[in-house]
Amino acid sequence: MKSFNVREIREQFPALRQKVYDRNLIYFDNGATSQKPQMVLDAISTYYSKDNANIHRGVHYMSQKATTEFEEARKIIQTYIHAKKSEEVIFTKGTTDGINLVASSYGELLSSGDEILISAMEHHSNIVPWQLLCERKGLKLKVVPITKKGELDMEQFDLLLSDKTKLVAVTHISNTLGTINPVKTIIDKSHAAGAKVLIDGAQSIQHMPINVTELNCDFYVFSGHKVFGPTGIGVLYGKEELLERMPPYQGGGDMIAKVTFERTTYNELPFKFEAGTPHIAGGICLGEAFRFLHNLDADALQRHEKELTEYAQDLLDTFEGVQIIGEAKKKTSVVSFHVNGIHPFDIGTLLDKQGIAVRTGHHCTQPLMDFFGIPGTVRASFAFYNTKEEIDTFITAVDKSISLLR
Ligand code: ALA
Repeated sequence: MKSFNVREIREQFPALRQKVYDRNLIYFDNGATSQKPQMVLDAISTYYSKDNANIHRGVHYMSQKATTEFEEARKIIQTYIHAKKSEEVIFTKGTTDGINLVASSYGELLSSGDEILISAMEHHSNIVPWQLLCERKGLKLKVVPITKKGELDMEQFDLLLSDKTKLVAVTHISNTLGTINPVKTIIDKSHAAGAKVLIDGAQSIQHMPINVTELNCDFYVFSGHKVFGPTGIGVLYGKEELLERMPPYQGGGDMIAKVTFERTTYNELPFKFEAGTPHIAGGICLGEAFRFLHNLDADALQRHEKELTEYAQDLLDTFEGVQIIGEAKKKTSVVSFHVNGIHPFDIGTLLDKQGIAVRTGHHCTQPLMDFFGIPGTVRASFAFYNTKEEIDTFITAVDKSISLLR
């Protein structure tokens, strides 16, 4: 039976119960990383205190148990994202690693003159790997511009997409603006033009149900630590037929079928892309995080986060000299703002002293900051365990900080 009760949910997150500088912690930095529920913390402890063993390699009891749990986690994730097969779920270190894997490996199938299309609101991790690939292979990187409201300019998207475009790589939700991009339209149009599509799901998987089969994306990447699991683990979903065609990313143990000095053949999916001992505890505990999410009412969760976002944005909008950065019609869980004449870092520091954790700076989206002509923003990013009362306290604290700094 699925449920959604914020009070009850908060009780399952011990980190939210602490005081910072003698104030009740208000954690509004979920875009950077989310807090962990007790069942994930327990799973980490159980794994290392009882079940620690290497996987896919041992005949002994513990190795087989760890292998079963790791592969079980892969299946939980497959089910959650509606991938057709568990072989399409590759464990990575995180979103950045997943994008680099695709850039290196799928990139090998591309040749000089081919184009890659990204957007102006991408995180550096969805820009730089493509720049490196373009330099290496003589490809061309094109960028879909955005409007002042922080929405993709879809007319420009249509103009930039051509039969030269081989890959479109866009974020599902912007980490800086909160914009929810029309990824289904992007995927359908890209496919019609003959391009494959990678969706950066780092900021979407924790906020909405994801169905990679319905979306029909070719790749979908995300990080475990933003979706209530551990750091150092993430997932690349890829369509089987593409992953089969792609060469391995890294060489090493577990990714091989047979090694001789003359020639090596590779393991089947997903292991072909998982060289070396993986983050076993990470994988198992990420599975646990998805078990936790699966028990929540996804519609209620989305409604709650949308309400928090609109509530915070409307209140901040009333402040003189405050510019909201990112006013897309469809947005969630992120409110970024800039205060005229005050550096975001100074506001962030004063908020911290009042027990409020936000992120300040360029949020790894420097081209986006250049577009808005600002050095950075203060970003409050919400999770389902945040409350309107916390936003009230935050608004009072922003007011106080601005008064102190003016
Ligand atoms: N990409 C993470 C963020 O937006 C770290 O904060």
